[in-house]
Amino acid sequence: MTATASEQTSGDTRDWAAIRADFPLLTREVHGKPLVYLDSANTGQKPAAVIDTVDDFFRRHNANVSRAVHALGTEATEAYEGARSKLAGFFKAHRDELVLCSGTTFAINLVAYSWALPRLKPGDAILLSRMEHHANIVPWQLVAERTGATIKVAEIREDGSLDLDALHAAMTSEVKILGLTHVSNVLGTVNPVREICREARRRGIVTVIDGSQAAPHRALDIPSIGCDFYAITGHKMCGPTGTGALWARREHLAAMPPFLGGGEMIREVRFEGTVFNDGPHRFEAGTPNIAGHIGLGAAVDYLDAIGMDAIEAREAELLAHATEALRKIDGLRIIGTAPEKAAVISFLVQGAHAHDLATLLDLEGVAVRSGHHCAHPLLQFYGVPATCRASFAFYNTHEEIERFAAALTKVRRLLG
Ligand SMILES: Cc1ncc(COP(=O)(O)O)c(C=O)c1O
Repeated sequence: MTATASEQTSGDTRDWAAIRADFPLLTREVHGKPLVYLDSANTGQKPAAVIDTVDDFFRRHNANVSRAVHALGTEATEAYEGARSKLAGFFKAHRDELVLCSGTTFAINLVAYSWALPRLKPGDAILLSRMEHHANIVPWQLVAERTGATIKVAEIREDGSLDLDALHAAMTSEVKILGLTHVSNVLGTVNPVREICREARRRGIVTVIDGSQAAPHRALDIPSIGCDFYAITGHKMCGPTGTGALWARREHLAAMPPFLGGGEMIREVRFEGTVFNDGPHRFEAGTPNIAGHIGLGAAVDYLDAIGMDAIEAREAELLAHATEALRKIDGLRIIGTAPEKAAVISFLVQGAHAHDLATLLDLEGVAVRSGHHCAHPLLQFYGVPATCRASFAFYNTHEEIERFAAALTKVRRLLG
């Protein structure tokens, strides 16, 4: 693929067409049509640098970590711990604050069970926003059931932005935890997490930020956000599935009991009792996803080399183009029009079911997601059972957006 004027982001010298060519899968066809992959909020595609790193690990270095003194064991441990350092650098954090885990779901459950469960009591409340993914709702419900705490909901406005006045008003004295997504996976809304965390901290509320949809798309300095916990998932940021991290303030990690028990999270085990490891290792029981996290290390190197600010600008341009193209389609309604928005468009077409739209778009080679996007309470707010969602990444092109809009126009005619 050669660079074209239309694939240059204004004021930017990066060759986005060449960057796209780093992703082998994007050259394939589906149903005899070139693939237009618009499902990156679900999972991101992987550049050759990540695929090759994982391949190389299994071909040349495979061994368990932190256990064996032989050469392969040392190489595997250095690469795995090297990936922790790379991730820490990428998020401007310290490596001792990063628990490597299978992703956001694990990370939030770790906080729920290890931090919240021993502390919450009847009369306490957990505050969640209406736009949370089920991964930031269900663990809290499970903990609330066991502790007698209650769940409070911070509502949103019709455009999908958080009602900040209502949120601040909901931060009453019984609220001990605020669970909030940085960027909504359905609406694309970017929440002002710094301001919200400052307000929460002033009131002694611990903040758990779900960064699943933020980390792949913008530069993050996690400690400066002012939260207590920040969860990320690696497969949405060009890394392998089953990878991710929980960033936590050191004082929390030090005070939290282990979540899972087993090998590697201990210093000494006797039948009379066990002395646990310090820092993140205390929460990493058992053999981890070694190759996956080494691949995630390669992913953050890759993203860093492009530059997260450039990625954010590129995706803003793709979002503007796609929004404009979709607005021209009769009967199409965009759900989520907050002023601060990431490159995600949820939409409905009058008279068509979201699943039918997605199925017919797939036949045109266009991959979008349809359904509830693991956000039932949010869809209930909009009074719909499902939406179609097109989500963009820097490797998408303006030409793909034109093909998506043309396919949608065709599908709409077929269904109408
Ligand atoms: C906002 C948000 N939170 C949490 C998750 C769960 O991530 P994972 O399944 O990787 O743990 C997702 C994934 O779709 C998400 O978009």
